[in-house]
Amino acid sequence: MEDSSFGFDPRRHRVLIVDDEVDVLRGLCHVLEGAGYSVRCANSLRHAVEAIRSEPFQLVLTDLYLGETDLGVHIADFAREQRPQPPVIVLTGRPTFNGAQEALRNHVADIVVKPVEASQLLATCRRVIQETDLARRNSELESANRVLTSVLPRTIEMKDPTTSGHASRVVGYTDTLAERCGVSEEDRSSLRLAALLHDIGKIGVPDQILTKPGPLTSDEMEVVKRHPAMGYEVLSELTEHANVRTWVYQHHERWDGLGYPNRLKGEDVALPGRILVLAEVYDALAEQRSYKPAWPVAKIVELFREQAGRQFDPDLAHLVANGLEERGKRFFAKDQDSLF
Ligand SMILES: [Fe+2]
Repeated sequence: MEDSSFGFDPRRHRVLIVDDEVDVLRGLCHVLEGAGYSVRCANSLRHAVEAIRSEPFQLVLTDLYLGETDLGVHIADFAREQRPQPPVIVLTGRPTFNGAQEALRNHVADIVVKPVEASQLLATCRRVIQETDLARRNSELESANRVLTSVLPRTIEMKDPTTSGHASRVVGYTDTLAERCGVSEEDRSSLRLAALLHDIGKIGVPDQILTKPGPLTSDEMEVVKRHPAMGYEVLSELTEHANVRTWVYQHHERWDGLGYPNRLKGEDVALPGRILVLAEVYDALAEQRSYKPAWPVAKIVELFREQAGRQFDPDLAHLVANGLEERGKRFFAKDQDSLF
């Protein structure tokens, strides 16, 4: 009766089974071992706790009543001491509303009413283990995502304090434009990440150049110009986000081919990349920097019209210029907190 559901191998899972009735315990062990699980049995709360404290389990299956007074749900409290914490399934012959409430309060993953078919019990065990694995992976991904979307941009800003808040504003501008240009949801998601991380390569630019108060020498300028390539390198492990890396790499290219690092021209840079180029410049103009005041909207509009077909994709530049003329800075208004 091996459980051979696709992608799930019971042999990789150790299960603790707890029941004070020896015959029932034996029967449950037989079913789970028959399905391929590695099993340990305990016939009292005390033995169950000893087992939990001595080795890791991926699942605990326990009867609700262990003797007269011990409730199996309390095993869940002890299971919470384990890292990673195994889910607990409670078996009961007398399901009651209070019992279910008590089980939920004790973080029990599921309740199975006896008598139960072996196949149904195995299906429940497999589902609970898979759901627990999935929840754990999701929480790992979420915390990795927090590093990516919060820690890294702050790191860039600590390195280059003149651009405080720049990355998160550029995320909002790019996403507004991408939405208006009909960019697909998948590309918008990559673009938001590229916008957030576009200057990550500045980590590789020496502080004395990045924060130099006066104008840069041509040698220093060459060093600064390496930051898109360094960003591409920093993000090399993001193999599943090829577009993010590409648009980070291209964020200083120009429509007329006079940008860097590769002097790409026109549609050599895909639309999301061209949007990032423009949004990045818009923020630099619209915000005050140590070396210049914030530009008024009319001056930005003038520059975008003048640079349409030079620095910027002409359609995009006119779209933004028209929008700014009509609505001012509200053209880019967006609830930036909701973007990640
Ligand atoms: Fe940059």
